[in-house]
Order: sequence, then C-alpha cells, then structure tokens
Amino acid sequence: GAPVEVDLSTIPAGEMRTVEWRGKPVWVLHRTPKQLEDIKKDDALVADPNSDRPGYTPPYAKNEYRSRKPEHLVVVGICTHLGCSPTPHLAAVDGPGLPSPWEGGFLCPCHGSIFDLAGRVYKNKPAPDNLEVPPYQYSADGTHITIG
Ligand code: FES
Repeated sequence: GAPVEVDLSTIPAGEMRTVEWRGKPVWVLHRTPKQLEDIKKDDALVADPNSDRPGYTPPYAKNEYRSRKPEHLVVVGICTHLGCSPTPHLAAVDGPGLPSPWEGGFLCPCHGSIFDLAGRVYKNKPAPDNLEVPPYQYSADGTHITIG
C-alpha cells in the first residue's frame, strides 16, 4: 500500500483522526499535556510500560508514550487479541472492569481489553500486547506525518 500523509494542523489537541493504511485503521491522536501526565500515572497498571516486548513497537516508540514525539500517538486501531477495533474514549470514563479513575484510552468491545492513551494494554487483559505502532515519519518542518 501507498504511504498515507496526515496534516497535523487538522487535528486539534485532544482530538484524533482515523486514516486507512494498508486496509487497516490507523489512529493519529494529538495528546494534551494533561493526557501525557495521565499516561505516566498508569505506568504501574499496564503490562509492558516501556514496550520492551518484541513485535508491535518499532525502536523509536519503545518509550512511555510509544511515539516519536510525545504529543502525537500513531497506532493501528486493531486489538492485538483477536483483531476487533477498540472504541476510543478521549475523556475520563467510569465503569465496571475499568481502572478507577480511568482517564480514557481505548476499550475493546469483544473481550474487554483496555489500552491507555499510549496504546498500552492494561495488566490481566486478554490482549497479549500493546497496540501496533506502524512505520511513520515527521516531515522536516514537523507539520505532517507520513505513515508507511
Ligand atoms: Fe480485543 Fe479480544 S479482540 S479483547
């Protein structure tokens, strides 16, 4: 598939965009400073906080935010368990089975895996890994990313 270019100026802080790359949904989330703080708070609750497990995380995303730059998350929106598409929750949510407080992330409707705003899976969920980070690069001026 062809690379997909995303104009970052069209995604305000706190919002996300879904684009299609190789037939898969890819989410580009522009995280706020508060959302980045909330990710840090959940380091102890997620299964692989720095994405050390091999497979779904390229070297440049093996960090707490799972991204080249903290403000933008770029992940494939497909659960690493059996391939359902998790539902984004970009604000705090309360509910059975959710960490409390939960500042938002992605909830898989099929078997209840929960991912934080870095795509990191919480402990004791069926998904074996964090959401996949696809290959992507920033343009030289930082205004666009190219996925693929
Ligand atoms: Fe997502 Fe099973 S497919 S939890």
